[in-house]
Amino acid sequence: MELPRIDATRYVTPLREGGSLPALVEASDDGLYVLKFRGAGQGPKVLVAEVIAGELARTLGLQVPELVLMDVDEALGRAEPDAEIRELITASVGLNLGVDFLPSALPFSPAASPAPDPSLAADVVWFDALVTNVDRTARNPNLLEWHRGIWLIDHGAALYFHHGEHTPGRERQPFPAIAEHVLLPFAGSIAEADARLAPQVTEAAVRDAVSAVPAAWLDGADPQLYVDYLLARAQAPRAFAEEAERARGEL
Ligand SMILES: Nc1ncnc2c1ncn2[C@@H]1O[C@H](COP(=O)(O)OP(=O)(O)OP(=O)(O)O)[C@@H](O)[C@H]1O
Ligand SMILES: [Mg+2]
Repeated sequence: MELPRIDATRYVTPLREGGSLPALVEASDDGLYVLKFRGAGQGPKVLVAEVIAGELARTLGLQVPELVLMDVDEALGRAEPDAEIRELITASVGLNLGVDFLPSALPFSPAASPAPDPSLAADVVWFDALVTNVDRTARNPNLLEWHRGIWLIDHGAALYFHHGEHTPGRERQPFPAIAEHVLLPFAGSIAEADARLAPQVTEAAVRDAVSAVPAAWLDGADPQLYVDYLLARAQAPRAFAEEAERARGEL
């Protein structure tokens, strides 16, 4: 699949709660987007994870704001007084990731938000275990409540295997971080989520999500690595699903 490609036209404001200093920007289609900069912190791999995990989540029926490729011009930072922001823009000239901005969305709070549907919660837990997403904790849920639904954002920390060495069997390594998942206390049966979702993680679905990543962000890495990794994790027996089920049972 190909993501739509548009231009960032106006830097509106930084979103200071995000560690990577994402920004609210206006774009050439007159829409507002959250711009996640290629030049931030850990570099383009974060955006690779955002695209693959985000598009795969969408394929599985989870709600993810629309993703676009966003061209950033040097001029975007011209009027910006903050040196750190100007630097970030300069380091990110070219292609970046835009996330459709959900106006007045509320951050999901396990204490204050309405309890999510148990099967939706189980689906999100299962999905995050599939893509090894460590960033869905009570402290940093990366879930938005919007129009009475739950929307998934910020998948930059997923697929962390790509930061490390290529070790054989890495796709089968345990994922104990699932015990910290913010939706685990709300989750219904993970085994049932597994039965619902695993059949949808087909080779075509994974390839489609991976093909949305611009080649320039891969920095020479073979996109097939991501396809192989995810398909191997999706193959039975899926230890991560059992791990999540165990964590749920032990709460
Ligand atoms: N599509 C969106 N619509 C509305 N608000 C958003 C959207 N995306 C992000 N936000 C807001 O901006 C914050 C930062 O975004 P995000 O979590 O993607 O950035 P990050 O720098 O990767 O964050 P982290 O510090 O969690 O690594 C979110 O917590 C949320 O409040
Ligand atoms: Mg975040």
